[in-house]
Amino acid sequence: MEDRIVYPELNGFLRAQLPQHTGLLHELEEYAKEPYIPIIQPEVAQFLKVFFSFSKPKKILEIGTAIGYSAIFFAGLDKETEIVTVERNSDMIKAAHENFERSGFADKITLIEGDAADVLMRLDGEFDTVFLDAAKGQYQKFLPDILRVLKPGGVLITDNILYRGIVADANPPRKHITIARNLKKYIVGITHSDRLDTTVLPLGDGVGISKKLK
Ligand SMILES: C[S@@+](CC[C@H](N)C(=O)[O-])C[C@H]1O[C@@H](n2cnc3c(N)ncnc32)[C@H](O)[C@@H]1O
Repeated sequence: MEDRIVYPELNGFLRAQLPQHTGLLHELEEYAKEPYIPIIQPEVAQFLKVFFSFSKPKKILEIGTAIGYSAIFFAGLDKETEIVTVERNSDMIKAAHENFERSGFADKITLIEGDAADVLMRLDGEFDTVFLDAAKGQYQKFLPDILRVLKPGGVLITDNILYRGIVADANPPRKHITIARNLKKYIVGITHSDRLDTTVLPLGDGVGISKKLK
C-alpha cells in the first residue's frame, strides 16, 4: 500500500541517522521482517524514547503486544517502569512470553491474554500512559475504558492513526473502508473530546498524542 504520510527519501535519510539497536531488540526487528509482524517503526520507537525521557511513565498499559518488541523496548528505557500489555493471538502470546523471559524484564511486564475489549472492561488500576497499537478499527470501542484507567494528566499514544493516509480519502479502497471510517471517527473523537488535548503527528504511520485533562 502506498504511503502518503511521509516522503520516502526524507524518511530513509532520517531513519539512517537513528541509533541501531543491538542484542534481543535487533534480533526481534530481524525476526519481524519475514513473515512480516507489525512492530513499531524505528522513528516511532525513537520518538517514544525521547518522549518518555520527559514524561517518565511509571505504569504503561499497552494494547497489542505482538511478539513483545515494544514492551521490551519500553521496559529497557527506565528501570522503574512497569508495563501491562494485552494480546489475543495465541501464537503472539507464546512468542511474547519467551521474549520477555529472554529480555530479563519478565518481572516488569505483565501480559494479559484476551481481547482488549473484554480485558479493558475488567481492568482496574491507574496508568500514566496507554500505548494503543492493536486492531485499528476497534480504537473507538476501546476509548471509554482507556479514559477510565488513564490518570488525569496521563497520555494516550495511538499508533497507526493515519493508516497510510487512507483516513483522509473521500473514497477509500473498498477493503479498507471500515477501518478508514472507524479511524476517522476515532480521530474526530479524540481531537474534539473535552477530556483530551490531542495532537496528531505525521510520523511513521501516524501517531496520536492525547493528554487526559485534569
Ligand atoms: C501492531 S501489532 C503490536 C505491535 C507491538 N506493539 C510492537 O510494536 O512490538 C498489533 C497486535 O495487536 C493484537 N490485537 C489486535 N486487536 C486486538 C484486540 N482486540 N485485543 C488484543 N490484541 C489485539 C494483534 O494480535 C497484534 O499482535
